[in-house]
Parts: sequence; C-alpha cells; structure tokens
Amino acid sequence: VFFREEINQSLTLQFAEAAGKRRAAGLPIVSLGLGEPDFDTPAEFVEAVTTVLSEGNSRYSSPNGIPNLRDKIAQKLNLDNAIPAETANIVVCAGAKPALSLALMAMLEPGDEVVLLSPSFVSFLPQVLLAEPSVTVKSVSVVAGSMSIDLEQLRTAVGPKTRAIIINTPNNPAGFALQKHELESIYKLAEEFDSYIISDEVYEKLTFSDDAHVSIGSFEETVKRVITINGFSKSHALTGWRLGYACIPSQLMSRVTKIQQHMYTNTCTFVQQAVARAWEFDCKHLSGYRDLLKARVDQITQWIDTVPGLTYIAPKSGFFAFLSIESLGVTSNEFCSGLLSETGVATTPGLAFGSDWDDHFRVSYAVSDTDLQKGLEGISTYVVSLQDKTAAIQGQQS
Ligand SMILES: Cc1ncc(COP(=O)(O)O)c(C=O)c1O
Repeated sequence: VFFREEINQSLTLQFAEAAGKRRAAGLPIVSLGLGEPDFDTPAEFVEAVTTVLSEGNSRYSSPNGIPNLRDKIAQKLNLDNAIPAETANIVVCAGAKPALSLALMAMLEPGDEVVLLSPSFVSFLPQVLLAEPSVTVKSVSVVAGSMSIDLEQLRTAVGPKTRAIIINTPNNPAGFALQKHELESIYKLAEEFDSYIISDEVYEKLTFSDDAHVSIGSFEETVKRVITINGFSKSHALTGWRLGYACIPSQLMSRVTKIQQHMYTNTCTFVQQAVARAWEFDCKHLSGYRDLLKARVDQITQWIDTVPGLTYIAPKSGFFAFLSIESLGVTSNEFCSGLLSETGVATTPGLAFGSDWDDHFRVSYAVSDTDLQKGLEGISTYVVSLQDKTAAIQGQQS
C-alpha cells in the first residue's frame, strides 16, 4: 500500500472551503474555523524581509538552515525550554508541519507503531501514514471530563514496536496543556520501550493560565529521544511566511539532511534571514494578545452557561475551544454542516481530531469580538432549533 485510505482531505480546510463558497455566493458567513492569530505580522519582520531582499539575499542556503538562525533557535530552546539543543540538532523548515513530516520520514520503518494522543492536530495521522504507509497508529484519547491522560491506557498502547509517541502541548483543538507529571510518565514509557517522542509545541507562547509551559525535551541531558517541533506561525503571525523548525537527535540528523537536500534544497532563504535579523524583537505584543485570548475564553464560558446542551473544559492556551455536543444526539459532521447551512457559522467537526471526538466541535476564537459574538449567537440559535426538532419528534412518538 502506498497511499492509505485514512488520508482524508483535511476537514478543517474542507469546512473553510464550504464557508468560502457561501461567501462567494453572497451569503453571510462568520468563520470560527481556521486558526490564525488575529494580529498583524509585526512590522519589524516586514521591514527585515524588505531589507534582506534589497540586499540581494535570495540564493540557496545550506539544507538545514542558515547557521545564524540555527544558532539562535538552539539558544532559544536552551533558554526558554531548558532543552539541551545544539546548533547541529536544528533543522529549519517551511513551517512546523514540514518539520514534523521530516522527523517522521527520517525515523519510521515498515511495521513500526506510532502512538498518538487524541484529540490531536488534524495533520498528525496523515503525516505518519504519508511518511510510512505500513505503520500501525494507536490513538489514545485523553479523558473527556478532565482532558488528562489515562496512563493505564497509554501504557497498553506503547510497546516494543512503538517508534514514536506524538504529543502536542498546548493542544489543538482543546487548549489543554500536559502537566509535568504526565510528561514525566510519557518520557519514562518512551525510555522503557526505547521510542522517540515528538512534541509539537507551536502554541507554547499563547498560554494564558498560570501553569508554565513544560517541554518534555527538558528531561534530557543531550537531545536523544525527544524531537521538539516549533515555529513562528502562531507566536509571530507569520503563518504565510512558512517558517518552523525541529530539534533532532544527532543519530537522525544525517537522514534529515538527506531528505532536506533531495526534497526541499533549503527553506526560503530570505524568510530565514529576515527572522534571524528581527530576532531581538521583544514580542511585547504577546502579553496583550494573551490577555485578549483569556478575555474571549471568559466570554465563551459565560455564554456556554446560557446554552443548555453544550459543555466544555475552558482552554488554557491557544485560540481554540472544543465544545461537547454529546447531549444533542447528532454527529459532529451533521452539527457543523447544519450550523453552517442554517446560520452561516463555520466551525470544525470533532471527528477531524480523532474518531472518539465525534461528539465535539471546535470553535476558533482568533476572530474579532463582533464575529465571536455573532458566531456564538448563531450556535445558540442552532442548538435551540436542534433541541426543538428533537422535542417535536419525541412528541410525535409519544
Ligand atoms: C498543533 C499544530 N502543529 C502545527 C501547526 C502548523 O504550523 P505551521 O504553520 O508552522 O506549519 C498547527 C497549525 O495549524 C497546529 O495546530
């Protein structure tokens, strides 16, 4: 098998496209679908890229990235995350997504198993299956009521064939962060079965709870089994620039370099140069943005109390809320399709994040206050109409 059937079109993009079609047809639309920071790319980066281009920096670079940027990323991982990264561990890619696929391509062998914590980012499963179609993927769901790991279940999934455990903290779609003791247990399991851990930390800077972000890579003295993935899309609103990186154990690095050489040659040179040049940018925008995200979560929490039928665990990071529709008796696809066609509010079905999450849907709150308000009102209206329909059917039956 070269292309596994489970590799579906991204449901996130599918719903975004459906919303786009409605908009093109002149119908009203409120998009709470895709997750992009709703602040502008900081001017410092725009100026830096203009300067870099005007200086003619537009040629090939070395495959793993320009040395200056790799140095800075390694320093950042040491300082912010206590990860013992060296420049030689760093590969710069066109976003966190390619960084992830590079790591998977470098490590997976036929017959391997990969353990995924779910709900998980939509691209994890397809990326694993694209990298090595024969892999068996075991998905372990967090406990819905607390969004915490069931260690017993995780223990059953991890074994001698496990090549990698993929985690994402803070999490997309549910905004929870893994606790230090949970990460310690994951690390111990990986040690016991000599597996890698891939840790996607792209929402690290968007945490608005009091819990500090913990990187599982900080449990090592040298980078040996943890691959840390991060990038600039979410923290710096550089989504379209495409810049991310992976911190790779040295034993995988020569494979990674070969893949880079033959597939990508290098990541866009002037984007790398510009980010290196604007590196000292103070990121002050983030504290205001975190406050804003927190205020929106408070708004959602107050609203959800007024909508019988919906529940959620308030997110602590990122810009997504994962709402339970368990009591409504519809699938997540039915819910999101109906919501879109009846109210013009675009969201993402929970099924996109794992088969156990068909009784949830995801709302992005990286939108204007007006859109968030309109979107929540649309959801309330739709939930009430669903409940009325169910009551009418039950009335007819009795
Ligand atoms: C968990 C997670 N990882 C990676 C990405 C993609 O990041 P990038 O734009 O750097 O490829 C996203 C964004 O959608 C995400 O939610």
